[in-house]
Amino acid sequence: MGRVRELGIAGSLARIKDKLVGQPRTLVFMRLTLPRMEDHSSVGADFHLVTSQEVMGWSAYDDGYFTREQALCRLESGCQLYVLQRQGRNVCFGWAERGTVDMRWLNLRLCLPDDVVYLSCLYTPPQFRRQSCAFRLWRAVAHHWKERGATCAIVAVNPQNAPSLWLHERVGFKTYQTITYRRWPGLGCYTIQHPCGRLRRRYTMACTVPTDLWSTFWSSVILEAAWLTTV
Ligand SMILES: CC(C)(COP(=O)(O)OP(=O)(O)OC[C@H]1O[C@@H](n2cnc3c(N)ncnc32)[C@H](O)[C@@H]1OP(=O)(O)O)[C@@H](O)C(=O)NCCC(=O)NCCS
Repeated sequence: MGRVRELGIAGSLARIKDKLVGQPRTLVFMRLTLPRMEDHSSVGADFHLVTSQEVMGWSAYDDGYFTREQALCRLESGCQLYVLQRQGRNVCFGWAERGTVDMRWLNLRLCLPDDVVYLSCLYTPPQFRRQSCAFRLWRAVAHHWKERGATCAIVAVNPQNAPSLWLHERVGFKTYQTITYRRWPGLGCYTIQHPCGRLRRRYTMACTVPTDLWSTFWSSVILEAAWLTTV
């Protein structure tokens, strides 16, 4: 009986702590250097930049992340939606954003320079997975942005999402940092880790949404060289 009560108290304390502090949230930031991609002129007729009219006209809308109404709001706010189509069916979805991007899950804002594009919410419906749909869509989106003068595409992936990490590595993305966010009442604590594992920065913010943490280890080669010479 005493043990049961102990477990109950421990569970309640854990729930209170979760409410106040929240679980740590981690995302792996990866980038693809667009000018380095080999030329591949045929983006493919099945690759498509979607308009609001099309989203309204589709009999069903299933991009895995948003409802039709949310997707229309995002298009209205300037985000771009791409699909890969096969025999008239949408077999893969993905979004691109530029400028200021709010990443609510990490309580972070990305203020991107003009030549960087943020790709997100990639989704292949389960029946089309492992047929290279996501690979082909992201490659096509990357080429699309390369032709428009962008130099880098970035993504943020949950480290527990192995298929997504493998997919992005296959496309050519490289990890440049990992951000872990912990929420305390009135405070946000961020740990940014370089992929080498030896470099780490910590920031604590009171009631502000940081805008430049997404690029902490952007110039990682230079930073790493500087760090190695000072230890
Ligand atoms: C992640 C996701 C988009 C991959 O889509 P997909 O169309 O199945 O991926 P592809 O078929 O293009 O895979 C390309 C490569 O990625 C890797 N890969 C993708 N899924 C994999 C899996 N489940 N297991 C192992 N490798 C995988 C493989 O290297 C694969 O190449 P291969 O098939 O020649 O071995 C899909 O699983 C999905 O929609 N998941 C849910 C949403 C999600 O997690 N989105 C990512 C958000 S960052």
